Amino acid sequence: MEFKDKVVLITGASSGMGRSAAQAFARQGAKLVLGARRRAEGETLVEQIRAQGGNAVFAPTDVTREADVDALVQLALSHHGRLDVAYNNAGIEGRSAEFAEQDSDNYDLVMNTNVRGVFWAMKHEIRAMLQSGGGAIVNNASVGSEVGFPNLAPYIASKHAVMGLTRTAALEYVQRGIRVNAVNPGMIDTPMQDRVWGGDAQARTTFTQQLPAGRSGSADEVTEAVLFLASPRASFVTGTGLLIDGGYVAR
Ligand SMILES: NC(=O)c1ccc[n+]([C@@H]2O[C@H](COP(=O)([O-])OP(=O)(O)OC[C@H]3O[C@@H](n4cnc5c(N)ncnc54)[C@H](OP(=O)(O)O)[C@@H]3O)[C@@H](O)[C@H]2O)c1
Repeated sequence: MEFKDKVVLITGASSGMGRSAAQAFARQGAKLVLGARRRAEGETLVEQIRAQGGNAVFAPTDVTREADVDALVQLALSHHGRLDVAYNNAGIEGRSAEFAEQDSDNYDLVMNTNVRGVFWAMKHEIRAMLQSGGGAIVNNASVGSEVGFPNLAPYIASKHAVMGLTRTAALEYVQRGIRVNAVNPGMIDTPMQDRVWGGDAQARTTFTQQLPAGRSGSADEVTEAVLFLASPRASFVTGTGLLIDGGYVAR
């Protein structure tokens, strides 16, 4: 029960890695404040957590809107009076296309979700954590914050930006009790990967077999890193991006 009574906010909790993290934090005793756009998925998750004795609330949240992320933080404060941990996980991959075929709609949607969404969430989370006497923020970036990947230029740019936000906030608040880190997952089996491969199971299998580990990762494997970075076990860790990539960037 490492997070017993800790107030933990998660964006993008309706699916994939956010959902996995919500379930794990709940098992560790956290009081969860969950956001995503899809209400039905969010409320189903809350029901499951409560049925297992956990504590969770959900609010429909679009991270591209500063008012929504502010409201999610305010929900934590009104329900629990504090905010201890924030996992800024919501993100989209955008449309795959080579650079010369990219369009501004795709660029804006990816940047508004992955960068703007993290930026304004962090602002309001940091304000709440300063009131709470400190806290830990974990952003979900990507191996794409360290290396390029063909046909995903806006996504890759957005994830490099998330590392910039992570490092800058870490420096600004390291002496005021707030640690700020990122997880940098490699290829992880979630609905996002299903969309990226678009049902081309053969291409997905071929790509996966060529990864250093010979396999993709699971959402739960990323969650283990999130729990570590959010916990007091990581008390001297800030401004870092932790690769959970089965050796992808080491090649
Ligand atoms: N899967 C991978 O291989 C991989 C690798 C590296 C990094 N990542 C990163 O991991 C994070 C989680 O992705 P995933 O793989 O778990 O994909 P996923 O299953 O598609 O989950 C993405 C989550 O983000 C939420 N979301 C998207 N746009 C949002 C918005 N505007 N406002 C609020 N929530 C929004 C979605 O909820 P709603 O649709 O309900 O809003 C969903 O809960 C992303 O930041 C992604 O870039 C993924």
